[in-house]
Formats: sequence, C-alpha cells, structure tokens
Amino acid sequence: MANGLIAPHGGELVINLASEDERAELQKVARTLSQIVVGSRQLADLEMLANGAYSPLGGFMTRDDYLSVVNDMHLSNGLPWSIPITLSVTADQANAIALGSQVALVNDQGALQAVMTVEEKFGYDKQLEARKVYRTEEDAHPGVKVVYQQGDILLGGPVRVVALQNQAFAEFRFTPTQSRAIFNERGWKRVVGFQTRNPVHRAHEYIQKCALETVDGLYLHPLVGDTKGDDIPADVRMRCYEVLLANYYPADRVQLGVLPAAMRYAGPREAIFHALMRKNYGCSHFIVGRDHAGVGNYYGTYDAQRIFSEFDPTKLGITPIFFDHTFFCKVCDSMASQKTCPHSSEHHVILSGTKVRQMLRAGQVPPPQFSRPEVAKVLIEAMRQPEA
Ligand code: ADX
Repeated sequence: MANGLIAPHGGELVINLASEDERAELQKVARTLSQIVVGSRQLADLEMLANGAYSPLGGFMTRDDYLSVVNDMHLSNGLPWSIPITLSVTADQANAIALGSQVALVNDQGALQAVMTVEEKFGYDKQLEARKVYRTEEDAHPGVKVVYQQGDILLGGPVRVVALQNQAFAEFRFTPTQSRAIFNERGWKRVVGFQTRNPVHRAHEYIQKCALETVDGLYLHPLVGDTKGDDIPADVRMRCYEVLLANYYPADRVQLGVLPAAMRYAGPREAIFHALMRKNYGCSHFIVGRDHAGVGNYYGTYDAQRIFSEFDPTKLGITPIFFDHTFFCKVCDSMASQKTCPHSSEHHVILSGTKVRQMLRAGQVPPPQFSRPEVAKVLIEAMRQPEA
C-alpha cells in the first residue's frame, strides 16, 4: 500500500473473503461437508477474517499460534497478537471431523458462512486462557464466562468466507480496504483511531479532540459486535455519535465507521488487540484512556496503557496515545485531568455509569459538563422505549 498510510499488521491485508467464482464453487462443495453451527462471536470473527481486519490471520488459530498468543502475546511468527481467535466444538463433533478435511461453517438458519480446512484439533486449558488473557479465573467476568461455556476442543485452520450476514449500519461498515481509501481520499496520513462501546461523553470527546490536535484525522470507530447485556445497544449509540458529530465536530476531520468485532472485556490484552485491528484499518495512532476495555474491578486504571511497554514498538507499528482519567473541572472551567488541573475533586464533575443510567431512566438530562444535551436526549428517548 504505497500511499503513505501505516502498513497493515504483517505487511499486507490478508483478505479471506472468497471471490464470486470461488463462492459458487464453495456453495456446491459445502453440500457434501459436515456442518458446524457458529454463533454471533464467530460470525463476527469471520467478518473480521474476511475483510482483513484480523491480518495477518488466515483463519482460526492452530495450536502453536494459540499457545504462543495465550502465553506470550505473540503469534508463532513473532508478530504481536494478544487475544486468541478460536473456533471451539464439542469432543463428539471433533471426533466426527477428519484432520485435513473441510467443514461448512453455517449460521443458526443453516446458511453457509464459510468453508474451513481443519488442519488441527486440540484440547486446551480454559483456566490457563482465563488467567493469562483475562487475568482472572472468575466466571463472573463476561469474557471468561464465554471461554468456560465454549466446547472443549478447538479447530484450527484457514477459512474462506462465503457470506457476510450482518449488514447492520451498512453505510458505516467499512472494510479496512475501504477505510484506507477514505483516509487517502481525504489526504490523511496520520489518523487516530478511537475505540468505544459507550455513547461518547465529554471525557471521550475531550481526549479525541486532544489527539486530533496533533494528527490529520479521527476515526471514530465504535465496536458494534456482541457486548454485555447492560451496555447501551449499538443502534442507540450510533444515533448518539451522529448527533454529536453533526453538532460538535468538523466534518472534514472526522470519519465514523463501525467495528464488527465482539467485545471481550479483556482490558490490557484487548487494548493491544483493539490497536492492532485499527492499524489494519489504516490508523497510525490509537487512544487508550482509563480502564480501556475493562469491566468491574478486574484491571487497574492504567494497566491497559502499561501493557504497551511489553511490546517492541516497531513490531506493533501503531502508536498508542495515552490519557489519564479526564473530567470537567468547575474552577478550570474546562475538561482536564490530574495532569492539567490543580483543584481538588470536589470541583470535578465525575458521574458513575450507574448514576448516569439512573438519571437518564428518570428522564433527567445529565449536566452539560458530563454529556452534550443532544446526546443525552437520544439516550433518554431510547430509555423510554423498553425495546430500544
Ligand atoms: S471501552 O471498553 O471501549 O474501552 P469506553 O467506550 O468507555 O470503553 O472507552 C473508550 C475509550 O475512552 C477508552 O480508551 C477508555 O479508556 C477511554 N475513556 C473513557 N472514559 C474516560 C475518561 N473519563 N477519561 C479518560 N479516558 C476515558
């Protein structure tokens, strides 16, 4: 990609989406193959494998890569990678699959999504994965819970993706190839990526704009794959992002796009994973604030920043931009952090997520120092409709 944008992870985008001719052929072949029904997490993984966002991965991890990622946060070829990308099945299912054979990965309606060549079948230690990746063995952790509920055998091997079922937010569902083309067209070389699974509040806006002051463009890149039940649904969040951008951001410096991946809540490990995916989308920089991708009290406030020092920056490629916990200070009369504000916390507007949810549910608009009124309005309306 000789256009001045950062190179994808591993050098080039690895796109595992079958071409049209190949798809017709695979549809035919798949009729004779045994089927594995995959859930929403794996469907999202297939989309990421298809569009190149998981470059350099060519499929679900084989044993060497899996163990190397779990234990050392690198693929067996030495490239950084922090989250296992796996396909699990039950022991009975695994026994019915011959090594080297192809299997049809289908959705819960039986529609073919991908054809996978099963190079390896292997057992794995779920507690070890929980401890290493999530830093806890507690199944109260939403990411650990998923690992414990999975099948006991992992299948590793390349995939050819045939269908991309989920077309939600189609106008923002850019592939890395597309986001790179957009950045090029806009003349951006230095692009900062922003991960979020929440509506954007003033703290988020502040750190995005601080970063934007020093680069060419901001890629506001909310995750829209599976999140835990009490997170705000992606469609509501998308309406929040759109009103926020329309009212407070310069259109020529910001691009909104969605990340189809599922949330793991793996804190530090997920910060690395989030950064590597954004590198594939063409971002040269990535924002990591307080408790990035955290849940409950499993991670220290800045663990997701510290973990970057465990990697060779030249191998990561993408540059993290760290922010301390930010808030509005009434004396400074601006957004600030402990790094920039000398006043005590009684002057700071800091609201917990629980408190904000209570206010919104009661139809109360949180203070403008916490949230833009346009964003609060979208959230209040959504909370009034039980189905939203
Ligand atoms: S996340 O799970 O996607 O990380 P969230 O959407 O809340 O959650 O955060 C998006 C990004 O903003 C993360 O990098 C997070 O660390 C950062 N962030 C959120 N709130 C603050 C804050 N008050 N101060 C600094 N950084 C923050």
